[in-house]
Amino acid sequence: MSFARIAGTGVFIPEKILSNKDLESLVDTSDEWIRTRTGISERRILQNGQATSDMCLEASSQALKNADTSPEEIDGIIVATVTGDYVTPSVACILQDKLKTRKIFSFDISAGCSGFIYALKVARALIENGEAEKLLVVGGEHISHITDYKDRDTCILFGDAAGAVVLEKSQEPGVLSVCLGSSGAEGKLLYVPGGGSRDPLGYRFLKMEGKEVFKEAVKIIESNSLEAIKKAGLRPKDIDMFIPHQANLRIIEAARERLGLSREKCYVNIQKYGNTSSASVLLALHEAINESKIKRGDNVLFSVFGAGFAWGSAVVKW
Ligand code: COA
Repeated sequence: MSFARIAGTGVFIPEKILSNKDLESLVDTSDEWIRTRTGISERRILQNGQATSDMCLEASSQALKNADTSPEEIDGIIVATVTGDYVTPSVACILQDKLKTRKIFSFDISAGCSGFIYALKVARALIENGEAEKLLVVGGEHISHITDYKDRDTCILFGDAAGAVVLEKSQEPGVLSVCLGSSGAEGKLLYVPGGGSRDPLGYRFLKMEGKEVFKEAVKIIESNSLEAIKKAGLRPKDIDMFIPHQANLRIIEAARERLGLSREKCYVNIQKYGNTSSASVLLALHEAINESKIKRGDNVLFSVFGAGFAWGSAVVKW
């Protein structure tokens, strides 16, 4: 039996900061309101002329280096994104070219903020089934591109970034469980109405019913996390670090409390980056490792929720 384990992580964080103070000059809001309602102080914005694949390239190169892996060793690339450079080709194909890998398979996954956990599920299965030995799994989002900076309901929340991991075949357990779910009936509570085939020239920015999303997110992060913990053969007290999707500090806190985990066991960096969609958990994982908040052998729980609705939780032995 072989397992799939994370061999290295990488991130790209754009330089440009958009602070709460900056947003005060764009919409009717305040630094105080944003901090108390969301936990966010600032977020990053990709500079003009750059696109999602540029961020994914930087994050992937760093992950390859940290995993001591060369691009030629990679057997496939999966990118989670809803903000690709083009409608087609995929970001993954662009990345394949930029990284100069062999002519391996490359494809994107669209699952909103949950994309990375969906990509992890597929990558893990490919490795455990013997179809691949090393895969690059990336989450990158140019979310500012689909954010309306006249809409205070959404523009305070989101930021740009990318993260990546190298997932490799291992004799030691790595990914212990991945549990996914979706409910399309709630799709219009968080969606982009225009720009697709339904209304090509319509409103091409995110629209959100924040309160509804909030309530569902708390409930599902709890139940889906418990499902993943159980499937991994563990109990909540066995979790050493909880890395939730960084959507709103109040969602994170409510989910953490429901899971009975202490503050020290929950990694939060939302104050610096806001909600970076499919990059969110990857950014937090990378930082937690670099800050030595996760050590080898720890059981790490990821849990994400977002547009679709689509959600996913995973338990990984680090
Ligand atoms: N700045 C200042 N005031 C704002 C505001 C803003 N950006 N947005 C809303 N308000 C006002 C409202 O108009 C309302 O005023 P009223 O009481 O006079 O009617 C008040 O603040 C409370 O608004 P409400 O919508 O109830 O706030 P909330 O506590 O639900 O917080 C969100 C709003 C968006 C922060 C919160 O609902 C949320 O985070 N939802 C989940 C979003 C999410 O995670 N999406 C991505 C999932 S991947």
